[in-house]
Amino acid sequence: MAHSSDAWDLASWSKAHLAAVESALSDWVVADAPAGLGEAMRYAVLDGGKRLRPLLVLAAAEAVQGGARAALRAACAVELIHAYSLVHDDMPCMDNDVLRRGKPTVHVRFGQAQALLAGDALQALAFELLTPADDGVPHQVQATLCRLLARAAGCAGMAGGQAIDLASVGEALDEAQLRRMHRLKTGALLQASVMMGAACGDIDPRTHDALERYGEALGLAFQVVDDVLDVTADSATLGKTAGKDAAQDKPTYVSLLGLERSRAYARELLAQALAALDASGLQDTRALRALADMVVNREH
Ligand code: IPE
Ligand code: IPE
Ligand code: MG
Ligand code: MG
Ligand code: MG
Repeated sequence: MAHSSDAWDLASWSKAHLAAVESALSDWVVADAPAGLGEAMRYAVLDGGKRLRPLLVLAAAEAVQGGARAALRAACAVELIHAYSLVHDDMPCMDNDVLRRGKPTVHVRFGQAQALLAGDALQALAFELLTPADDGVPHQVQATLCRLLARAAGCAGMAGGQAIDLASVGEALDEAQLRRMHRLKTGALLQASVMMGAACGDIDPRTHDALERYGEALGLAFQVVDDVLDVTADSATLGKTAGKDAAQDKPTYVSLLGLERSRAYARELLAQALAALDASGLQDTRALRALADMVVNREH
C-alpha cells in the first residue's frame, strides 16, 4: 500500500482497534466465575491500561496482512498475560503496590488469595482464547501463538525476569545483567506481541528477523522508559505509585546510568527499532513505527 495519506495518525488508527479489543476482552473475561473470581478478573483487565501489547499484535498482523480473527485473539491473550503479571507484581510478596491503573490494586480490593487466583485464571484464559474450536484459526497458527506466548510468559521470559528482579533488590547490577533482567521481565512479552501478530500471516525469514529485532529493541526501550517515568512522573499521571524503584532499592536504568543517559539510551533503542522496520521489506509499517515512537516518548 502506498503511503499516500498525510492524515494517518496513531490516535485515529488506534481508536477502532482499541474498541475491538475492549469489547472482546469484556466478552471473553466473563463475570460468572465462582465465588467472585470473575469480578476480580474483570477488575484486573477492564477499564484501564494503555493496551500497548494488543496494539502491537494488531499492527504487526496488519503489516503482514494476517488473519483478523487470530490477531484479535492474540491481542487479547497477550493483554491477559500482562494483566495477570501486574496483579502478581503488585502483591505484597513482590512490589507491594496499592495503586494500579488509577485504582486500588486487586489484592487491596479483593484480598491476596483472590488476587493470586485471578492471576492464575487470567493466565489460563489467555491460552484458552488462543485455541478456539470453531473460530476458523488454523491449528498451526494456534500452536505457534501458544508457543510464542508461553515462552514469553514463562521462566525464559516474564516470570524469569521477575525472579531476577526480586533477587536483585539492593544489588548493583552491571549493564549486561540489567539488560537481561529487563529483556526478560518486560521485553519478552512485548517482542512476543509483535511476533504473535506476525504469526497471523505468512512472512519470509528476512521479515521475521527484522520484526524480532524491532520487538527486542522496543521491548527493552519500554522498560528503560518505565524506569525513567518512575522517577520523573507523578502517581496521578502514572496511575501507579511513582518513586517505587528507589524506595525499594531496585536496580534500574536510572540507578545505573542516570536520567539523561537513560533517556538517550531509549532514543537509541527507538532508532534501532525503526531501522529494523526499514529492513523488514514490509510495505506499510506506519502503525509499528508510531507505536515505537509512543513507547519512547510517552508520559505515562
Ligand atoms: C507496566 O506496563 C508494567 C511493565 C511491564 C513495566 P504498562 O505501562 O504497559 O501498563 P498498562 O497496561 O498501561 O497499565
Ligand atoms: C513489572 O516491572 C514488570 C512486570 C512483569 C509486571 P515493574 O515492577 O517496574 O512494573 P510497574 O512499574 O510496577 O508497573
Ligand atoms: Mg516489579
Ligand atoms: Mg511493580
Ligand atoms: Mg516500574
